[in-house]
Amino acid sequence: MIDWLSFKHHMLVHFPVAAALLAPLALLAAQRAGRGIRPWWTAARFLILAGSIVGLFAVFTGLAMARKTALIPPGGWLVPGNPVSGSLNWIARRHQFLALASVAVGWVALKAAHRQRKDHQGIGILALLAGLLWAGLTGAAGYYGGQLAHAGPSQDTEGQKAAEPPPPPPDPEAEAPLRALDYLRLEPMHLEPVKSPPHGNRWIRVWVTPAAAEAYAAGKALPPGSLAVMSSTEDRWGRPGFDAGPLYVMETRGDGKPSFTLYWARVPEAKRGETGGAERVYWRGADPALGSCQACHASGIAPVRDRSQWRVPRRPKAETEESPAPDGGGNG
Ligand code: HEC
Repeated sequence: MIDWLSFKHHMLVHFPVAAALLAPLALLAAQRAGRGIRPWWTAARFLILAGSIVGLFAVFTGLAMARKTALIPPGGWLVPGNPVSGSLNWIARRHQFLALASVAVGWVALKAAHRQRKDHQGIGILALLAGLLWAGLTGAAGYYGGQLAHAGPSQDTEGQKAAEPPPPPPDPEAEAPLRALDYLRLEPMHLEPVKSPPHGNRWIRVWVTPAAAEAYAAGKALPPGSLAVMSSTEDRWGRPGFDAGPLYVMETRGDGKPSFTLYWARVPEAKRGETGGAERVYWRGADPALGSCQACHASGIAPVRDRSQWRVPRRPKAETEESPAPDGGGNG
């Protein structure tokens, strides 16, 4: 229905505009007095008449279309006012006003062009003035109509949508800390795991963003925006075991303060005492469970002197060994 109406309106409006462009020429020509000038009178009258009648139809199809597209509220007659110059309502209001004025003035111009005149007179200055006014109003209505028809979709909703705040951007890390899980892309700060007493005696390796590597090695505050991830595995008989421990994450915010995340995708049953029974843990930001991290990390990375040094013990060479190592002797 909208398509049908808008097609009708869009098609009809070209007639009055074309007539309005041609009418001034005929009106001027019809000013000259004398024999043989009558056909110009007819031409001028016809153009104004045809333009006004089709213009009247265009007014009705335009009204119906504006109601369908909610530019005019249902049951309303006029486009509601909008002070924002250039907004859709503003343009539509101008379009409607000019179109209505054009129909009214068209009727006046028609009257003027049909006044009783003698053959030796021209069509008359009154007809010329009214006709020019009609042509101007029709052309201006067409101009604003063109702006309406070619308004982009952004402009289309500008009036109503401007006040609404934009929807918040979706949080890509709502389900899992994606950047931290991609820690293998970062610079490794430990070539082999060390056993870290402050983090549950797990075997850990630290990974940092390349720009932070130098500062981390020197034990200086990491630059804002840097990411430090500590991967961990559970201890098994004094060595790194098979179960993955939590991923400890520290981000350095713009103000230099750290923000923590702890992600433990699969908490082994024996370790659920540490997580309040949870099988999976994803704590981040202001989560109270991360309050304990502040004890050592209130200002960021831990001081170099506190870093753990305990590495995987090398198995002693068999020939220099007097008695077999306790965990390696019996596997042959
Ligand atoms: C008792 C002090 C202490 C506590 C509590 C602590 N850490 Fe650490 N953290 C350290 C030390 C020391 C290191 C250095 C790594 C190592 O050698 O163990 C470290 C290293 C880290 C690192 C790597 C960056 C760095 O500073 O070297 C991250 C990330 C981290 N901890 C996160 C956490 C999180 C998250 C918590 C809370 C769940 C936490 N830490 C609790 C002492 C602590």
